Amino acid sequence: MATETVRMDAVKKLYKNKRGIRNITLDVNKGDVLGLLGPNGSGKTTIMKLLCGLIKKDAGEVKMFGLDAEESFERVMRKVGSLIEAPAIYKKLSAIDNLMLTARMRGADEKRAMQYLERVGLLQYANERAERFSLGMKQRLGLSMALVGEPELVILDEPVNGLDIEGVVGVREIIEELNKKGTTFIISSHIASELEKVCNRVAVLYDGEIAAENEMSDIERRYPSLEEYFLENIRKRRGALL
Ligand SMILES: Nc1ncnc2c1ncn2[C@@H]1O[C@H](COP(=O)(O)OP(=O)(O)OP(=O)(O)O)[C@@H](O)[C@H]1O
Ligand SMILES: [Mg+2]
Repeated sequence: MATETVRMDAVKKLYKNKRGIRNITLDVNKGDVLGLLGPNGSGKTTIMKLLCGLIKKDAGEVKMFGLDAEESFERVMRKVGSLIEAPAIYKKLSAIDNLMLTARMRGADEKRAMQYLERVGLLQYANERAERFSLGMKQRLGLSMALVGEPELVILDEPVNGLDIEGVVGVREIIEELNKKGTTFIISSHIASELEKVCNRVAVLYDGEIAAENEMSDIERRYPSLEEYFLENIRKRRGALL
């Protein structure tokens, strides 16, 4: 049985302005926590949108759970939870009503939804309309929506964006706990020190391509920090392009 949860082979997606991603070959194995690290505009969100079927590739192959991601779209997406850029929240609905929309689609009941609201620290605001939520509160709600179905693969685009310190620690704990139970994660972040704590593998993106990829244990052995590994690879790429 294939252990690859995601297999991207020579994937290209260029927007009308000719920017996007090129030649992305990337495997994510079951149980991995893969970190995507890269400068603004390097293609992290584009990769994540492709894996969630929000945009279509121009070329290459994307397999998820051993199936073609486009041909078997519905079967594949049932196993994927995601939070990409700003969470899709209905302003006029309460936190729990927003979460129940996702929960129902995912076969989760209200008890589980309340557990996840508690997990992200929103239980006391369960019945409050989302339009009154702060940036971080909306982010917390978005995280609960990504996780409530307990999917096999969770894709989180800058999950700690806007979160306070306890929120950041809380997200780390949730990732670690679910990963121990077998959940695979793909996470992007600009905070190298945060990725370093949760990822077992890291891919560095630069200008729509993978500039470097490695096991976190190897990076730890060879570099003082993930930040150093990132900067070295980015500078190498920049130098090569000059
Ligand atoms: N809808 C779009 N139309 C045109 N170009 C786009 C679109 N979305 C993204 N791009 C371009 O594609 C490239 C990759 O963008 P992407 O959002 O994937 O980057 P990112 O790595 O997520 O950046 P950030 O760290 O700022 O979130 C950028 O050059 C961006 O301007
Ligand atoms: Mg992005």
